Amino acid sequence: MLIRIGLAPLERLTRAMTTIDLLKPGPRLAATGHGEIAELITTFNSMIDRLEAERGSSTARALSAQEAERRRVAQELHDEVGQSLTAVLLELKRFADQVPASMRDELLQVQEITRSTLDEIRRIARRLRPGVLEELGLVSALKALAAEFSEHADLVVGRSLDKNLPELDAETELVVYRIAQEGLTNTVRHAHASEVDIVLRALTDGVELRVRDNGRGLGTSVEGAGIRGMRERALLVGAELTVASLPKRGTEIRLVVGHTGGRR
Ligand SMILES: Nc1ncnc2c1ncn2[C@@H]1O[C@H](COP(=O)(O)OP(=O)(O)O)[C@@H](O)[C@H]1O
Ligand SMILES: [Mg+2]
Repeated sequence: MLIRIGLAPLERLTRAMTTIDLLKPGPRLAATGHGEIAELITTFNSMIDRLEAERGSSTARALSAQEAERRRVAQELHDEVGQSLTAVLLELKRFADQVPASMRDELLQVQEITRSTLDEIRRIARRLRPGVLEELGLVSALKALAAEFSEHADLVVGRSLDKNLPELDAETELVVYRIAQEGLTNTVRHAHASEVDIVLRALTDGVELRVRDNGRGLGTSVEGAGIRGMRERALLVGAELTVASLPKRGTEIRLVVGHTGGRR
């Protein structure tokens, strides 16, 4: 009996070791138990501290490399491919005046295809590098994002975006934006929803983002790269992220960012 009581902290430690998830930071184990057991728990706790810090800095490096690469690809799409297609369009227009009437319709069609390809490339570039975020700020960027997703014919995108938000640093704004973007993408891909709402509001000590759809909910699905990416980004700026099915139907993503970005 006494031995069992004495070993309880060790059992808790074993459980913590097998279930710990660095992407979902929780409270540390209390260092209870006899001398060496307490010491073991303290050591485990400081190992977790170190792992979380290392994970945090390697995530930061990976994400900033990813963003830089996206910017580069977006730039090239826009500058190279975009410019070439624009040149093609101009040439086609020049031809249109010269070809015999019988060919004009076909030429118009080619022009149309070229124009929509150009639009598509610009859209992809925008998705890769939310320039509007840097130029006009988070609220405008989220508005543009909402507008883009409203183009899906069977989805109504509602938005309620506070204008009086506390100042957020550029990195935090990008985190909020990318999480909203992944949330909306998931709604389109998985939710079978007819409505999705984006809410951004000021809290007394920070900012809250919610992306809420009325779709089929998460069910038993496992988290993929998308949701893990959201968790990593949230951790990066010390924000709190929950992804959960709603009581009746649908899924909600909630991100709470502390005032200063809350960096640890
Ligand atoms: N809004 C949602 N509604 C219903 N299911 C969702 C929603 N978001 C995510 N899921 C489920 O969670 C899984 C994991 O999502 P995610 O991590 O973004 O990976 P991916 O989108 O690449 O599949 C999805 O495959 C899907 O089954
Ligand atoms: Mg996804």
